Amino acid sequence: MSQEKSLHMTPEEFRRYGHAVVDWIADYQSRIESFPVLSQVKPGQVRASLPGSPPAKGESIAAMLKDVDEIILPGVTHWQSPNFFAYFPCNASGPGILGDLLSSGLGVQGMLWSTSPACTELETHVTDWLVGMLGLPDKFLSSSTGGGVIQDTASSAVLCALLAGRERASGYTTNKKGSNGRLVAYASTQTHSSLEKAAMIAGIGTENLRLIDVDEKFAVRPDALERQVETDRANGLTPCFVCATVGTTSSNAMDPVRAIGEVCRKHNLWLHVDAAMSGTAMVCPEFRHLQDGVENADSYNFNPHKWMGANFDCSCFWVADRKALIQTLSILPEYLRNQATESGAVIDYRDWHIQLGRRFRSLKLWFVIRHYGVDGLQHNVREHVRLAQQFADWVRSDDDFELAAPVPLNLVCFRHKGGDEVNQAIMDGVNRSGDLFLTHTKLNGRLTLRLSVGQMHTQFKHVECAWRRIREEAALVKGPATSRSRA
Ligand SMILES: Cc1ncc(COP(=O)(O)O)c(C=O)c1O
Repeated sequence: MSQEKSLHMTPEEFRRYGHAVVDWIADYQSRIESFPVLSQVKPGQVRASLPGSPPAKGESIAAMLKDVDEIILPGVTHWQSPNFFAYFPCNASGPGILGDLLSSGLGVQGMLWSTSPACTELETHVTDWLVGMLGLPDKFLSSSTGGGVIQDTASSAVLCALLAGRERASGYTTNKKGSNGRLVAYASTQTHSSLEKAAMIAGIGTENLRLIDVDEKFAVRPDALERQVETDRANGLTPCFVCATVGTTSSNAMDPVRAIGEVCRKHNLWLHVDAAMSGTAMVCPEFRHLQDGVENADSYNFNPHKWMGANFDCSCFWVADRKALIQTLSILPEYLRNQATESGAVIDYRDWHIQLGRRFRSLKLWFVIRHYGVDGLQHNVREHVRLAQQFADWVRSDDDFELAAPVPLNLVCFRHKGGDEVNQAIMDGVNRSGDLFLTHTKLNGRLTLRLSVGQMHTQFKHVECAWRRIREEAALVKGPATSRSRA
């Protein structure tokens, strides 16, 4: 009989340790509000607690979990805390975590349909569901000319969109010959920085990325966009791509998609809609006016990992013409050839994004949609919007504070009237206290606080407490409180 020694976990050991880890996560969820939201460690503190060299012999899971408690947890910023109001949220819901665990357990690599048909087909099915759920045009359906794919992030999605727009505008020659330096892309001054990175990678060049002026609501001016396109054409350049944002990162501004789409149709430009954060709100029909004109988009992206509860990473990307995307990104080496691909009857998602290998991401999204149902997802969004609007009302009715931008959904941009230093001190004070976590932006050159309501477990009491703590810090910074409070 073989005396081979196995170092691997047996299924029984896995079951035992797995239960311990799930218990650990459930305990973490129930005590999450006891931790300072923003990690308070100093740079290098986590590494200084770790051994310099790896263990020569394997260690126990119990020892690892002990170190998670003692070394890792203090160095964690608690994105899943209901008092997390920074940036945009990144939600890990119960069903999302379980779907992700199943994906790890199956360990599937779904680069081709044939490497795991369910990985491809569930993804196609869920992205088709979402077309209806978000009120997107039918052309994005896999049964039409388009289709959806799950990417890691919105950054990857906009890069793919830009590459496809570049190829379409250059008659699919740039992949072969390289960029001629004359292709031009357009976005607003408020567009997410990932587009600038995409312009670098796609060979467009940042000098050929035009950042168009915005109006008083921080939305792009379509007339300024059109003038710039015409000037560029007159100068012998080749405009190819426009990115419109539904919900900018800085202030949640809404670009006028319909008017931008008209410019794009007239000048034959690829229109990409970046709804990374606010796309989730489109599950509620009453918010769809914010993306009016989306039927003119060539591509659309939103991140279920932000506001929908499908753990990072999960970013849905649709195109109206899948042939354009596939022609841009397809390469078929001999070792990937297979009958299913040759038959033309299947989708091979490796042709829909940058990398070859891919995780079974649709499982977690499928679990999330099935757990909450469309009604539940709508409820989550409406609650967050209601809470953000409540916070905005408190700001409006306070003599010392003001709103710095419109509040179309769940992000409140506001500031103390005392100026940048006061706002910086308020933010530093609340963040240092660990009671909540806020971040900032600059609007019209002035430091502005952002309160983003989107963590799954945030309730009225958390937002109310945030407002109280912000006013307390303001009072400390400015001396005795002067504000009229309504909260
Ligand atoms: C509007 C918008 N676009 C793009 C991104 C980039 O997202 P990701 O981290 O998925 O690349 C963000 C991130 O917050 C965003 O708000």
